[in-house]
Parts: sequence; structure tokens; C-alpha cells
Amino acid sequence: MRPVRIAIFASGTGSNAMALVAKAQELSKEKIEIAFILSDKPAAPVLEKAKNAGVRTYLVEKKADRKAHEAEVLSLLHEYHVDWIFLAGYMRLLSADFIQHFRQWHEGAEQIVNIHPSLLPAYPGVDSIARAFSDSVKESGVTLHLVDEGMDTGRILVQEIVCRSQDSTLPAWTQQFHEVEHRLYSQFLENVALGRQPTVYFKETP
Ligand code: GRF
Repeated sequence: MRPVRIAIFASGTGSNAMALVAKAQELSKEKIEIAFILSDKPAAPVLEKAKNAGVRTYLVEKKADRKAHEAEVLSLLHEYHVDWIFLAGYMRLLSADFIQHFRQWHEGAEQIVNIHPSLLPAYPGVDSIARAFSDSVKESGVTLHLVDEGMDTGRILVQEIVCRSQDSTLPAWTQQFHEVEHRLYSQFLENVALGRQPTVYFKETP
């Protein structure tokens, strides 16, 4: 049995991506392998961080033609026989065609996940923490969900509440979210690696 292969897609800072890398490096290489980290933004700090951690990176920049962009990404996924895609601050929606294509390689199993800093369906999209903060909510949270073609609309797998104390500042509260995100996402990666989360292999290779 070969290791489960994952690809991480990220457009920005990459703190979640690096938490996933750290967890994968802690686990056995026979169980899990990060095939690559892919970004659509040349200046994304995640690219440098990934290189420093010894992880292969790819940059596939936005193109006028979405289909051509996705075809390039699919060909990388195909080349590395990727089983799971972990979105970690990837600022592009995946098309229904892309998702369908990836699913076909896994006998219809949904193996694309995302982490989002709100209790979905509340506050989908960007600036979720800041919007919840300015609404003075007492609690928000983190959602780990499967990915469909919508904006943060896929089936929810895990949610955890992040409470807000009265004197909390936006930076302090944001930090609380990141800590929860990193823990939940790393735990999920471990579940995938250890077979606690069923995985249909894209292609068994020796
Ligand atoms: C995180 O808040 C994640 O939940 C959201 O985008 C942000 C990415 O942050 N999808 P980072 O680049 O992982 O630090």
C-alpha cells in the first residue's frame, strides 16, 4: 500500500499549509506524502515557506481562460496521482467540471476539503473574522468542509466554536481562529493518513 498523496492549494500566508506540512512530517512517510503545494499567486509567502520546508511547489497563475488554468492544475494532480486536495486559503473557486473530473479518479469519492474561519453557513467568503467581529457576535468558529463549486457551501465535516471575550481585539481573536484551524486541519490530515477517513486511491502505484 502506497502513502496517501495530498496536494495543498494556497494563495497567501500559508499558516494552515505549513501546519499541514508539519503534521505530515511528523507522521510516517509510508502513510502520507505531500505531493506539492500549489499557488496561483507569485508573491504568496506560502511558496517560500514551502520551499524552506523542503516541499515541492508549483505556481499556476490565473489565466483569462478558466478552463485552461484548471487543465494545467488537473494535469499536475494526474502526474502525481493525488488522492486528496486540501484548500488552505486558496482564493479561487473550483469549477463543477474540475471537481467532477477529480472525483472520477476516485470512483466518485469526495476528496477535496477546505478550512474556513466561521460557523458556516454564516459568514462565507472573505473577511469572515472581521465581519463577525464588527457584528459583535459572542461566538463564531471554524468549519472544515468538503468542497463543491459554490463559495464555502460543501458538506460540513467538523465545526468548532471560537468564543469572543468582551475585551478581545480583532488581532487576538484572529489568532484564536488560526490556532483552532491548524489543530482541526492537522487532525484531519492525520485521520486521512491513518485511514480513519476513508480514501479511495486515485491510482495504486508501486
Ligand atoms: C484561513 O483563515 C483559512 O481558514 C481561510 O483562509 C485563511 C488562510 O490563512 N480559508 P493562511 O494562509 O493559512 O494563514
